[in-house]
Amino acid sequence: MLDGKRILLIISGGIAAYKSLVLIRRLRDRGVQVRCVLTKGGAQFVTPLSVSALSENKVYSELFSLTDESEMGHIRLSREADLVVVAPASADLMAKMAAGRADDLASTVLLATDKPVLLAPAMNVMMWQNPATRRNVDQLVADGIQMIGPDAGDLACGELGTGRMSEPEAILAAIEAHFATAGPLKDVRALVTSGPTHEPIDPVRYIANRSSGKQGHAIARALGDAGAAVTLVTGPTREVDPPSAKVIRVETAEEMLAACQASLPVDVAVCAAAVADWRVARPGNSKIKRNGNGAPTFELVENPDILATLSGLKRGRPTLVVGFAAETDAVIDHATAKRRTKGCDWILANDVSAETGVFGGDHNTVHLIDAHGAETWPKATKADVASRLADKIAETIAQKGLLA
Ligand code: C5P
Repeated sequence: MLDGKRILLIISGGIAAYKSLVLIRRLRDRGVQVRCVLTKGGAQFVTPLSVSALSENKVYSELFSLTDESEMGHIRLSREADLVVVAPASADLMAKMAAGRADDLASTVLLATDKPVLLAPAMNVMMWQNPATRRNVDQLVADGIQMIGPDAGDLACGELGTGRMSEPEAILAAIEAHFATAGPLKDVRALVTSGPTHEPIDPVRYIANRSSGKQGHAIARALGDAGAAVTLVTGPTREVDPPSAKVIRVETAEEMLAACQASLPVDVAVCAAAVADWRVARPGNSKIKRNGNGAPTFELVENPDILATLSGLKRGRPTLVVGFAAETDAVIDHATAKRRTKGCDWILANDVSAETGVFGGDHNTVHLIDAHGAETWPKATKADVASRLADKIAETIAQKGLLA
């Protein structure tokens, strides 16, 4: 479940920091990408070298480090994670968070992040019980910060009481629980199509197109990250499977349609696949040979339109059906017409003229077309387009209560 997730781990000052090294190991074992911020206090207890070696990543410490800022600004650091974990969370760092202060990298990242935050506090029992800490904890909980621990027991300072940082296994369980239940789309079932289709000419040749599957896979990943139960029906691509999606691999448009129909009912369908419009009517059963009489001719027949089929379902139509329109001219006009003919709710239209580099590239400029008109989104990475789409789907479902 954690495979492919991105966690930003902030290690602040406390003897419990040594347990965070174990936590990094456990997270890496589960395929989590771990980036770490080590505060000045944290660096008194564990070294940047151990943190870097275990996380297999650079360690970030300085707010005003030119190198860090040019490679990875603190805003990006705070956003490019699915979850921010602070372990150990010291009394001082929690006080800064509760007050909204930002005077070092850790506190700045915590103030700047738009991602959920999980704290594993660790401190002396008297510090934990101090009314100031109590106020800060109440404030942080009211601000939506999640907490695990601290536990009761022997403290490193020799006293007995509540203040021990939770064990790495317990923090790991809290992280898993977070991903199991979090996200604005947690009760939503989503179907995504991605990639090209391959339409056989004979057992070794096929008709295909230039779709890379990057955008469709990014959408499946973003919907999964937002908590949706995702089925991804994909044509042949080199993209890695999104971590939490159920992936169904197909070759042809007909197989893609059958896999989509078998995945119903769903609440949201996003058809991002570049489905071949035609297939060869009678593909050869064996490799077609050159016979000296010139090139063969093939009769083409139309493929089923998956987007139109899902949009037109009388029973079990997904509540929200989203299609794509790859255009090379009059993008918005053509896409607006396409929304009507296909019968879907939204179309994401993009300009795929050769000079845009959209096919196979990492960026996309899209226009979202709905019943009210077109909204142009700024050029962004395909991952950002995907998470904006996931946000928009979540917002629409929350506002209109689209789910039956
Ligand atoms: O008609 P056109 O191929 O431009 O429409 C693009 C949209 O329709 C995309 O969302 C694509 O996934 C979907 N489509 C489909 N089945 C087809 C052709 C297109 O689902 N046979």
